[in-house]
Amino acid sequence: MLAAIFFYVLVTGSHCGSLAVSQNIPGPGSESVDFGTRCNGHCFSRMKTVMDFVAVNQDRWNTCQEITTNVTRADQNQIQIQLTSLQDAVTNVRASQEFQNGKLDRMDSQQIAMQESLRNIIPQNFVDMLSRSEAHLIAIESKLQTMQTILDNKLRALEGKLSSFIRKVIPPVFQLIGKRYFYIEERNEKTWVAANSTCREMGGYLASIKNEEEWSLLSGKLKDRTFYWLGIHEQLTRSNFVSVASDKEVPFFNWKPGEPLYVDDSMHCVLINSGLMHVDPCNKESFLFICQADDEVKIL
Ligand SMILES: *[C@@H]1O[C@H](CO)[C@@H](O)[C@H](O)[C@H]1NC(C)=O
Ligand SMILES: *[C@@H]1O[C@H](CO)[C@@H](O)[C@H](O)[C@H]1NC(C)=O
Repeated sequence: MLAAIFFYVLVTGSHCGSLAVSQNIPGPGSESVDFGTRCNGHCFSRMKTVMDFVAVNQDRWNTCQEITTNVTRADQNQIQIQLTSLQDAVTNVRASQEFQNGKLDRMDSQQIAMQESLRNIIPQNFVDMLSRSEAHLIAIESKLQTMQTILDNKLRALEGKLSSFIRKVIPPVFQLIGKRYFYIEERNEKTWVAANSTCREMGGYLASIKNEEEWSLLSGKLKDRTFYWLGIHEQLTRSNFVSVASDKEVPFFNWKPGEPLYVDDSMHCVLINSGLMHVDPCNKESFLFICQADDEVKIL
């Protein structure tokens, strides 16, 4: 028993800490009485030694306890400071988080407001309206197509009427020979220049011949061995024969062999006799002549 107590004292006294153990050791006064009555003298004297040791070291132990307490307090202070700064940090984080939350809330409410105003701007049945408009458009398009067809037909009818009207406008003295209308003067002989003017006054032109078919049909209508002026002349240069209706080159000739035969240096106009063509001065001799109603020669 004694050995055990001694061991405890040595262990706990040799270093600071384990204050709980040293406090559990019974106080010297009561111990000595107790031990004194229970042990014999030898036991007490040995116990006394231990008690002295404890008394001697009591101050040191207290000091050690104080240091430990001071250190613990310092540590606690340190920990307290760290805790405080940690709490500050947490508070800061919380504050900034709350700030962010506030921002987010404001953004949310702004977005909601925008959605509201958009909802107000765009009618609820917008999609319905769109599809209805599309259907309308399709209907209108098909109506337009129908109208287009009707208009096309009307236009074609109008064109037909117009062309028959134009035919009626052609003076009655003109006759259809082949595909065009001609007037053949059988009585009054004129110079080429006068005949040209007369055809213009009748609403036509002194005539040219487009092709062999027309030449053949027209020649069949003319008196044999008789000269008729045609609307063909040398406008600027010798042998450069042009249509008086178009001022363009004439596409068809059927010259008498040896023609064009120039009798003088004046410009020459073209005659037809028994289907064959000659040249003659435009303002000297008078002959019969042929007019054409159209200016179709222009587009040849
Ligand atoms: C413990 O702290 C107190 C007050 O700060 C001081 O007076 C005392 O000397 C310190 N003790 C030791 C052992 O440092
Ligand atoms: C044909 O007659 C028209 C009308 O009189 C006239 O303007 C034109 O200059 C004449 N052409 C020639 C080549 O004489």
